[in-house]
Parts: sequence; structure tokens; C-alpha cells
Amino acid sequence: MTKQRRFLTTPYGGYLQAQIPPPDTFLAEVGPGTPGGEYLRRFWHPVAQTPMLGDLPVPIRILGEDLVIFRDRSKRIGLLDRHCTHRGTSLEFGKIEDRGIRCCYHGWQFDVDGTILDTPAEPANNPYKGKLCQGAYPVIEYCGLIFAYMGPPETKPPFRKFATFEAPGVRLGLAEHLGGNHKPCNWLQIMDNIVDPVHEAYLHAQISGPQFLNDDGEGLLELGIEGEDDYWETPTGILCHEARRVGEHVWVRSLEYVCPNVIQLSRLPHFPLAESNQDEWEVLPMLTRWRVPVDDFNTREFAFTYSFDGESKDYFGKVWPADLSNSGGRPYEVMQRDPGDYEAQISQGAMTVHANEHLATSDRGVAMMRRMVREGIEAVQRGEDPRGVTRSVDPLPVYARETVKKIGAALTPDADADLLRRISKQVRDRPMSAAG
Ligand code: FES
Ligand SMILES: [Fe+2]
Repeated sequence: MTKQRRFLTTPYGGYLQAQIPPPDTFLAEVGPGTPGGEYLRRFWHPVAQTPMLGDLPVPIRILGEDLVIFRDRSKRIGLLDRHCTHRGTSLEFGKIEDRGIRCCYHGWQFDVDGTILDTPAEPANNPYKGKLCQGAYPVIEYCGLIFAYMGPPETKPPFRKFATFEAPGVRLGLAEHLGGNHKPCNWLQIMDNIVDPVHEAYLHAQISGPQFLNDDGEGLLELGIEGEDDYWETPTGILCHEARRVGEHVWVRSLEYVCPNVIQLSRLPHFPLAESNQDEWEVLPMLTRWRVPVDDFNTREFAFTYSFDGESKDYFGKVWPADLSNSGGRPYEVMQRDPGDYEAQISQGAMTVHANEHLATSDRGVAMMRRMVREGIEAVQRGEDPRGVTRSVDPLPVYARETVKKIGAALTPDADADLLRRISKQVRDRPMSAAG
């Protein structure tokens, strides 16, 4: 861990901190053989979307490795080292075959598991064909996303589903544009954003005009003035609740972090007025999103959205059809006038320097998450499964949801704050599990 820089006490003291300490590469690096990279390689990650796979191979870069992904003519998906094991030509120029892919240069053919199937210019008894392999990773296609496991074969866990994925009445959709949402920065600082509900009340509700406003143009959240925020460890990560009083109702929103790079978001912070006429109302998250490292300085986001029976469109797509503030490509002046998550995250630098920060009271979630990542890396170094890896095929419980309960205010503000906390804990203790 790098040494934290002391808070500056000298006015006009920029010179005293002009030298920037190094980033915490132990946590942030993703390449093969690095501590963080080995940790991330213990999990399945989405690396592509089904519509990306047509009749041509697609070059992708994941965890600092150059790969090629394709669907062969037998409809099987291959994820191979991009560079041909013969002499390094890129398989993005290869020809898709009934079985696997054939390198354009000398015609070596590789099956989807990397097995060398053909070496046209070699003698019949050559030592390659049927015996040696191109690098390959196992994949699973699930509801439009293609997940890969890039870790040691002997530690491969079962594919990890969440209890919400196959809940009755739920349909999964793809949220991001083709290829995933690219952010030119390290994955970990993007994760910081999710265990940081304060930014919703400032960045999204106070700073940026069109985000998180009601029909009268007012910010929908206040800066913790009337809310009670709490962070809890779950078996798989962190649950963060924001419990608020809204008249006769208590409104609990939640954000869930699942190790190492998954977030589950409840709906955008619009108090559900229509539904609040009921005594109790609850809805599953609107989004499950992965932040998948491309390399140390680039990340791609892939996500499932949820639609429920009776809804023609998923909630996320309906309320936020173009999540522009989370993507690049806007004119610079618009980014300045209306910054969102994208600008906040990438402007921290290509890899946030933790030793340069001064974490404050409201950063409890950030500190917890980084501690979990560190503990996960250390577990892998000891040869153990990190938190979040499951050896069971049962779906993981889901804690994120949005809940409204009709309960009148307690007599005093302190008693009401206690009441909010109590309700928040009741919601926490009822995760959605495989059993429903
Ligand atoms: S470089 Fe691929 S077959 Fe020769
Ligand atoms: Fe945000």
C-alpha cells in the first residue's frame, strides 16, 4: 500500500504537493501475473454481446490480453489468443470454418477450444495437429452476453447467475451499445462510483441540469439532510441503503456491489408516487452492470436491464433512453456544462492515485470496497477462493431493490431516524434468493 499524502495546510501550497505519488498498482493492475489481474481471473466476466458475432471474427482486448472472438459455422463460440501460435498473424483476419477458425497466413486451423485441427503445409505426421493448442478461454453465452473465464483451468468456478436473472416475470435485456460502454480509465475508479451514493445527490441532482430532476426541474435528492445512509457487508460484497422519509412513507433505495466488478442498481431516484398509494411496494433492481477491464487504463461496461411482465420496455431504457452522461463522445463544452459519471470518473486520471486522495466520512463505502478487493487479492495469493466466487450452482442472492412502506413519522426526529434505520435493516435481511 502506498503512503497516504498528508492534507495540505499551507495556503498557496501547490508546490509542496506537486510530485504525484504512484498509484496503488496492487489493487488496480489487471494484466496476467499481476496481483489484481490474478484476482480478476478467478471470475466469469462478460466480454462481448451476442449481436457482435456475425460472419467475421472480432478482435477484443480483455484484462490486458489481445483476443479474438467468433462464432463458427457450427454456432460454437471461440475466444482465442489473437495472435496465431504459428507466427503471430492476427486471427481477426482469419476465416471462420465449420469447426473453429483458420489463420489467413499459412492456414493453420484452430478449434474453439484452441486445438490445432489443420496445418496445411506441414507433413502428415507433424507434432502439432491434434496435439498442440492455440491459447483459448472457455465461454458461456447467456441472455445476449458472452461471459469468459480467463483464470487457471483448475480453479474455474461454475458460471455465476444472480437470483434476479430467472425470477418469475422478469426478462433480461442488453443496456449498452454494441461493444460495451468504453471508459478510458482503470476499472477500480469506476467501481468507486457505486459505493458512493453521495455523488447521486450532488453530481446528478445538484450539478447536472437534466439528470435526476423532477418535472418542476428540482433536484430529486438532497445531500443526506433527511436521509440515512448505511453500508453493510454481504456474503458477496456491499449493500448500501438510502432510507428517506417522504410524508407518510419510508422510501429505501439500495445499491449493491458484488465482488469484484458488478453493481446492481435500484431504480433512478424518482419517488414512486403512483405505487406509494399502496401500504408496501417493492421492486427488483433496474440494472446489473459489470465493469470489465480492457487493460490498466481502459474499461468496458456491459449490463443487463430488467423488464417485468406488463411493461413493454425495461425501466432503465424508458426513463433514461440515452445514458449520455455515462458515455464519451459529447462535445467538450456540453461535458463541462453538464458533467455526469463519465466526466467525474475519467477526469480522476487514467488510474486514480489513492495516496493523493483524502477520503472523508462519506467515503465509507469506497474504503470498504477497496478493502474487499485487497482481501480478495490476498485470498487468491494464499490459494483460496476470494469473496464472490461460488462453488455452488445456486444463483447468488440479490440484496438491491427499492422499497416503499407506509409508516407515519415517529414523534421526534431522532426517533424517526431510528425508525428509518430499523426499516432499512428489515429490507436488508430479506435478500432475493433462489428460493424466491
Ligand atoms: S501465422 Fe498463422 S498459420 Fe502461419
Ligand atoms: Fe452516478
